[in-house]
Amino acid sequence: MAYIEFSLIFVYLIRDMDKNQELHDKRKKSLEGGGKERIERQHSQGKLSARERLTVLLDEASFQEIGGLVEHRATAFGLDKQKIPGDGVVAGYGTIHGRLVYVFSQDFTVLGGSLSETHAAKICRVMDMALKNGAPIIGLNDSGGARIQEGVVSLAGYADIFYRNTRASGVIPQLSVIMGPCAGGAVYSPALTDFIFMVEDTSYMFVTGPNVVKTVTHEEVTSEDLGGAKTHAEKSGVNHFTSSNDVESLKSVRDIMSFMPQNAQEQAPHPESYLYDSKKEQAIEAVLPENSTIPYDIRKIVDCVIDDDSFREVHKDFAQNIVIGFARVEGKTIGVVANQPSSMAGVLDIDSSRKGARFVRFCDAFNIPLLVFEDVPGFLPGTDQEWRGIITHGAKLLYAFSEATVPRITVITRKAYGGAFDVMNSKSIGSDLNFAWPTAEIAVMGAKGAAEIIFKKEIANSPDPQKKLLEKEAEYAELFANPYRAAERGIIDEVIFPNETRTKVILGFKMLENKNETLPQKKHGNIPL
Ligand code: HXC
Repeated sequence: MAYIEFSLIFVYLIRDMDKNQELHDKRKKSLEGGGKERIERQHSQGKLSARERLTVLLDEASFQEIGGLVEHRATAFGLDKQKIPGDGVVAGYGTIHGRLVYVFSQDFTVLGGSLSETHAAKICRVMDMALKNGAPIIGLNDSGGARIQEGVVSLAGYADIFYRNTRASGVIPQLSVIMGPCAGGAVYSPALTDFIFMVEDTSYMFVTGPNVVKTVTHEEVTSEDLGGAKTHAEKSGVNHFTSSNDVESLKSVRDIMSFMPQNAQEQAPHPESYLYDSKKEQAIEAVLPENSTIPYDIRKIVDCVIDDDSFREVHKDFAQNIVIGFARVEGKTIGVVANQPSSMAGVLDIDSSRKGARFVRFCDAFNIPLLVFEDVPGFLPGTDQEWRGIITHGAKLLYAFSEATVPRITVITRKAYGGAFDVMNSKSIGSDLNFAWPTAEIAVMGAKGAAEIIFKKEIANSPDPQKKLLEKEAEYAELFANPYRAAERGIIDEVIFPNETRTKVILGFKMLENKNETLPQKKHGNIPL
């Protein structure tokens, strides 16, 4: 009897050991992805593997995988013999600076990271969990696109992802990091997310690649020129943040995450300490040139107002006539939108309006107060702008500010002319506090243009038209090229000395901390897209 019992225990033990071994084997296969050789190929191209990327992105040892043993069910074109647990995407959750995030990282070593039905289902699963649990989702994209052998089910898989991206928009932050090819429909999931990060030389995005371009338009173009990080940072504006390699890119994602709340119901994290060099308060005045026609870098003014080294410029290389980015005042996240006089005199055009509008909407969706610096000569005239729809695109910025309910403060440093004055977070479109420096010029247009129009006849009939023009220009400037007409009518709240700006901004945002404004009941607005 004792012998039988002992034998049974032995059999169970062996069976359990076999079962554990089976799991070990399966895990090992899943962890290996496409195998050592393919990982080495990835390394030789300067790219990390999908799992290495997650190690850099997330806090140490925080990653928990979901669906590591998922396999595809396809059989066509020999796929039944090409099954690797995980099916080309590593998905799960972990933490960044101790805060929960959901992640997926496509594994190019497995069938080129191509998106199968099950690969898509894994991504959808973490997206659903992110939405339910109110935490950001970060996608690391490195994929040859739809898994060609699977046909329509992989297309449907993409659509499942797009649908979730749209549903999650404005509810949780969504970040996309492009770390390899991203072609065809694959570009649309990143496009639906809030921010795109790209890596120089190893990542590219396009709807159709160079070969198709050559066939259809007869243009010869490299992948890099068509859709590399630089192209999308400077020309199309698709790329918000460029880095020189995988590690830098993932570190910048970690950094930007520290400015964001977990979801639309929460506030951004608030570090306990911050640094501010008070000498900057006095230095601010010297940034502004005495002559109002001379350009200056608005980022220097921004820097004097915010906490030390806290500015993270977004879309740095695109539409440089407007500057946008995250920053902190007394440790709290704010969004900065500023006209840039050193690029096209800070004029508003199609690209700068689009750039500004999208950022304002992100900040508003995620409870990030807005600080606006204004020095704008107006909208850019010309047939190019008019024919490409500056009316619609300019209206985007107007709409974005008008619907924003977060605390909003504007500081006019110099020019605030024409329709651009209204658009740049004026009081009439809901800004909470508007300050102007003594150097502000708030008027319908510049003095010369105004004099030429309203004194046209008088100037023409004068014996010395040039002298008359200068005289009338001076008259108009004297009356309007200052902040006082606006202050008299309460169109701005206060004229302040430049060195008071930081204090006014800090106190203003404190005063607005409990601001609670709701939009009229509606299904959704109809932003001029
Ligand atoms: C299946 C794929 C694949 C794909 C790559 N592979 N893309 N397998 N479906 N879409 C496989 C390759 O066959 C190869 O397998 C391995 O991944 C590595 O690919 P290589 O070509 O050797 O790598 P590389 O030279 O670096 O070129 C990468 C690439 C190229 C530029 C991405 O693979 C490529 O052009 N792929 C196809 C891109 C594409 O047209 N995708 C469909 C887009 S349409 P082996 O076993 O040989 O190593 C689309 C529609 C979505 O996505 C629409 C949604 C609305």
